[in-house]
Amino acid sequence: MSFLDRKETKPAPPQHIAIIMDGNGRWAKKRGLPRTAGHSAGAESFRRIANYCRKIGVKYLTVYAFSTENWKRSAEEVSGIMKLLGAYLKEALRDMEKNHVRFCFFGDLSRLSPELQKLCLDAQSRSSEYHEVQVNFCLNYGGRDEIVRGIRRFAADVAVGKRQPEEITEALFDTYLDSAGVPDPELVIRPSGEMRTSNFLPWQTVYSEFVYMNVLWPDFSSKDLDAAIEEYHRRNRRFGGA
Ligand code: IPE
Ligand code: IPE
Ligand code: MG
Repeated sequence: MSFLDRKETKPAPPQHIAIIMDGNGRWAKKRGLPRTAGHSAGAESFRRIANYCRKIGVKYLTVYAFSTENWKRSAEEVSGIMKLLGAYLKEALRDMEKNHVRFCFFGDLSRLSPELQKLCLDAQSRSSEYHEVQVNFCLNYGGRDEIVRGIRRFAADVAVGKRQPEEITEALFDTYLDSAGVPDPELVIRPSGEMRTSNFLPWQTVYSEFVYMNVLWPDFSSKDLDAAIEEYHRRNRRFGGA
């Protein structure tokens, strides 16, 4: 086999990729469309990337879909996003047997409409046996809120005598978070050009590699994901060691 014939073998992708799906509004504005059209295009992009992640063997994909701060937006935009989420979950429930995706939800779902909460719970319970790829949807998610809710749960266990205050360790606290049982993401990608985390997974990403990209989420392609993974493989992860 000559050098030119040799197929490049790609290194295995990280097992857990987290994405801040940002830039829908700017994508719509550039086209003179309402922001909701950007969110529809963003939902398409999510379908594409989730499929691609499954194809290349990513085990966990965590996506930031709606933050605890996003309620500050206009009622029209918020209700448009909620409608899209509902439609997506109905479709996911319909195609469940075909896609074999396990659904999980991070965030305080209690602020969502009862209908949306039910769709989330149905998707979670009906997909719990699938192990090919797990998609964690962050809905009404805030990293600080997740930590505060975790502390509340731990304090409630202490109050009923199930736990002692001095038992708390990093590993035990992990089990009180929405992400309990999910390994930390190795790679966090933020498209849209913004370079901040906007309250996304502060506990879980202390040693994650961050890749910020200048593409708007609706335009994000499998090639962009490949590029982010390549960048990840070029990084030298030291975890505080020499
Ligand atoms: C991300 O896109 C989607 C949500 C936050 C719900 P944006 O709506 O934030 O898009 P930009 O940042 O305004 O372009
Ligand atoms: C982060 O994006 C939240 C989601 C993508 C769901 P934002 O657009 O809300 O973040 P900021 O306001 O630019 O920090
Ligand atoms: Mg944004």
